[in-house]
Amino acid sequence: MKILPVISTKGGEGKSTQAANLCGFIADAGLKTLLIDGDFGQPTASSIYQLTYEAPCGIYELLMQSVDLSESSNIISNSFIPNLDVIISNDPQAHLLTAMLHAPDGRLRMRNVLQHPLFNEYDVIIIDSQGARSVMLELIALAATDTTIGIVKPVLPDIREFLRGAFQDKSCQNPL
Ligand SMILES: Nc1ncnc2c1ncn2[C@@H]1O[C@H](COP(=O)(O)OP(=O)(O)O)[C@@H](O)[C@H]1O
Ligand SMILES: [Mg+2]
Repeated sequence: MKILPVISTKGGEGKSTQAANLCGFIADAGLKTLLIDGDFGQPTASSIYQLTYEAPCGIYELLMQSVDLSESSNIISNSFIPNLDVIISNDPQAHLLTAMLHAPDGRLRMRNVLQHPLFNEYDVIIIDSQGARSVMLELIALAATDTTIGIVKPVLPDIREFLRGAFQDKSCQNPL
């Protein structure tokens, strides 16, 4: 099973769109796919595909460990694409930020909860994230099995910002 976080340190780069597209392609190719909407405040990825069943719980209960995972319908929503399931975003007040920041295992919480046998049935789990540097971005990045997908829009200011922030590339300060 592969866990692929989709991240960037700012919003509007295309994370939710690419995460959902990728899930659609992979599910269409016949792999059992789970899209976790880790943008806890804004359910963009959760709402790209129509849900045929919406579970009562989502990312909030998953990370707060307040849902019984032995019954998959508690947490797993189904999209209209047969191989594509979704865990919805449902924390508009951003309670998770504070809770995960103060939990001793906060940064490893996503990685740990995904060890549950419920998730063994998936070939690929893609996790969308909020475009802000925070404990929530860290706990999603740390859940990766090997690869993380970083999204940068192909426009100069965003690329310079990415190179400056990620690689401390000083040439981006004064490109002319
Ligand atoms: N490859 C693309 N080409 C053109 N527009 C795109 C592309 N990917 C995303 N968008 C548009 O960019 C905006 C931000 O995308 P979104 O996926 O919500 O970004 P993020 O999740 O990083 O905030 C949306 O209006 C979306 O439709
Ligand atoms: Mg988004």
